[in-house]
Amino acid sequence: MTITNRQLLYANTPTPAIDPSPTSGTFKINTITLPDDVPDDKLLLRIHYLALEPAMRQWLTAKRSYIAPVELGAVMRGQSIAQVIRVGSGLTSQYQVGDWVVAYSGWQEYAVLGAKEAQKIAVPTGCRPTDAMSVLGMTGLTAYFGMMEVGQPKAGDTVVVSGAAGATGMVAGQIAKIHGAKRVIGIAGSADKCDFLRNELGFDYAINYKDEDWMKQLKDATPEYIDVFFDNVGGEILDACLGRAAQFSRFVICGAISQYNVAKPQGPSNIMQVISQRVKMQGFIVFDYAKQYPEALKNLGLWLTQGKIQRKEHIVQGGLEATPQGLVDLYGGANTGKMMVEVVPVSEAIDDKAKL
Ligand SMILES: NC(=O)c1ccc[n+]([C@@H]2O[C@H](COP(=O)([O-])OP(=O)(O)OC[C@H]3O[C@@H](n4cnc5c(N)ncnc54)[C@H](OP(=O)(O)O)[C@@H]3O)[C@@H](O)[C@H]2O)c1
Repeated sequence: MTITNRQLLYANTPTPAIDPSPTSGTFKINTITLPDDVPDDKLLLRIHYLALEPAMRQWLTAKRSYIAPVELGAVMRGQSIAQVIRVGSGLTSQYQVGDWVVAYSGWQEYAVLGAKEAQKIAVPTGCRPTDAMSVLGMTGLTAYFGMMEVGQPKAGDTVVVSGAAGATGMVAGQIAKIHGAKRVIGIAGSADKCDFLRNELGFDYAINYKDEDWMKQLKDATPEYIDVFFDNVGGEILDACLGRAAQFSRFVICGAISQYNVAKPQGPSNIMQVISQRVKMQGFIVFDYAKQYPEALKNLGLWLTQGKIQRKEHIVQGGLEATPQGLVDLYGGANTGKMMVEVVPVSEAIDDKAKL
């Protein structure tokens, strides 16, 4: 049976924000027909969930970064949860039709990929396969290594997390709590997100950075200053936290989403606090720790099944077409937890036994 595959191609350079318009925007739909035969060393996958990530804006234009930019005209890069629907003859000992995988598929409905680009999902009993793209995937690992390797929270520490209700931030804050932090403070963009952090995740304080007096709230919540700051946001929030840095504090520079869509990114004016308070400020990329993924996943899986880590997902409906607007909404803060697009519901999976 011939398969028609719809894809989203990178069509126009953002100026500087992403334009979700389906006709003249940053991405455009392309339709191709896939050949009937799958090569011996490939799998044919049907994509069910596409991950949305803040770094995608960087992937479009950043010239010198940790990953090459996506080329104009190429399928937009992205991870997905997909189901194996055909197996090349050389891979039948490793995969079966119906297997679920985390795939480096890009933004499309189907993908033909090799084994290295399609990792079989293995989540602990009681967990959801979509966890493999969030708390047991890249964002969970990012939180884990950023907090454990760079932040190194100790019993009694005051830990602040920005972007705290997002996929990475919510896990980072909970890891600090597991490691005995005295005060974990989340910074997020709405009263509902702050309620969620306090009531469902056990953060000690949550500050809505859209409140007029948020800097005073930060000061009141950090009477012993900040020992670890896990930053997903950059800009004004990083600056304010530098103003509250404790001596010998660790500033984990994970992301700077407030600056990704602006023409001229803003640096911190409180940078001299790094000297006077002897702040260790370190950026990192999760891939640096690839060799330690198995151990990290074991710990994250354990904490998840023990209920020490709670998580949430934000699933965007509307199929592949909804992806560009979903990405714009991610920058706008629409999500609590990992944001994904449902390309096709699980009810349409080919094998009932393989249901997510
Ligand atoms: N270093 C690494 O290896 C690595 C790996 C993965 C991700 N990251 C970074 O980690 C960060 C979080 O990524 P994620 O995938 O977990 O996304 P996410 O936090 O689930 O979603 C992004 C959140 O950022 C917040 N935000 C957007 N604009 C903002 C602004 N101007 N000021 C403050 N907050 C803003 C929004 O929440 P509010 O409603 O709170 O504004 C939004 O929900 C990103 O900066 C990303 O680039 C780094």
